[in-house]
Amino acid sequence: MFWPLQENIISNEELDLLVNFIRETKRFTQFTKVREFEQAYSEWMGCKYSVFVNSGSSANLLMIYAAAERYGWQHGDEVIVPALTWPTTVTPVMQAGFTPVFVDANLDDFAFDYDQLAAKITPRTRAIFLVHILGFPADIDRIKKIIGDRDIVILEDTCETQGGTIGGTKVGNFGLGSSFSFYWGHHMTTVEGGMICTNDEEFYKLNVLKRSHGLARELPERYQADIRAAHPDIDFQFLFLTDGFNFRNTEFNAVLGLSQLPKLDKFIEIRNRNYRRFLSICRRFEDKLVILDRPGMSSFVLPFVLRDAAMKAPFRELIRENGIESRPLISGNLLQQPFLKKYYKAGEFEVADMLHRNAFYIGNNQFVNDERLDVLEKLMERGLS
Ligand SMILES: Cc1ncc(COP(=O)(O)O)c(C=O)c1O
Repeated sequence: MFWPLQENIISNEELDLLVNFIRETKRFTQFTKVREFEQAYSEWMGCKYSVFVNSGSSANLLMIYAAAERYGWQHGDEVIVPALTWPTTVTPVMQAGFTPVFVDANLDDFAFDYDQLAAKITPRTRAIFLVHILGFPADIDRIKKIIGDRDIVILEDTCETQGGTIGGTKVGNFGLGSSFSFYWGHHMTTVEGGMICTNDEEFYKLNVLKRSHGLARELPERYQADIRAAHPDIDFQFLFLTDGFNFRNTEFNAVLGLSQLPKLDKFIEIRNRNYRRFLSICRRFEDKLVILDRPGMSSFVLPFVLRDAAMKAPFRELIRENGIESRPLISGNLLQQPFLKKYYKAGEFEVADMLHRNAFYIGNNQFVNDERLDVLEKLMERGLS
């Protein structure tokens, strides 16, 4: 048996679809397929606007710049971020000139130590960059209560929890905007790709502009007449309304997205079924494992959080010898990574440190099945008893 971390979820039919599209279309760069995919994504998400970009990381960077412009943040303003996440939740904050304020994780939903989050809010806090980690929706009600009536924006990094829900509403609908990743190995894929979702019209327009050099012509037509009239001296095709990037994606990736999206709910169902079976196995080893069981999950991976760090290396080796790939839990405590070491304070990130030492994960997707989970169960009997 070989159980890799990531597997190809693009079918042969999708490859044919793509080849036919390439043969037939005359337009490869962002065009009608991208718009169609954005529309379909908004419908699936239950939001007003979606903006397709070339990665989840670009989505995060774009959202930070768009939020900063939308609300007039000043350099040095603070954005709260988790200690446990993928680096590109945090790096956009730093790259855009804001100060990341790190908050420890927890062992219920992995997101934030909510008491520490409350304590780290200052008059300069402009946003909380909330990450729904590894398929587990964070406690949004608690975060909203902590914010109270302060002017603090919530941005949701939903790259690992696409399709997760809170009270029946999909995560990614609870803040100013949210990001998704369609990278290989995520719940659905466009090979590379990402999405920004929002219900805020101004934020949407800023993301569309900044995705593509700041060009006015990128906005939907309904906005164009007024802008044209306000700038009669500049050729509308080359009218730049704000600073921007080039984070556009292509028609090919959108064709893949349009094909994958209708299958997504089924993919999530299989992932969650696998996770529930995994949970039932883990419960036999509750003295050895910390177990996460949250409502509204959209399982991303199968995480092992060992109570005893000394058991991690031999157990990882045992499953590796038996064909199961594993990796650290995201990137461990990010503050232990060289580029963030200066923010690390011993004792301040106990849970993220514990996860750094004691945790790892293996893959979950629609190809994981009972046969593989049977093998895993036997290995857990050997390695964890
Ligand atoms: C939480 C989180 N944010 C952002 C990203 C970045 O997404 P991408 O790989 O599409 O750039 C990832 C990637 O997996 C992620 O896990």
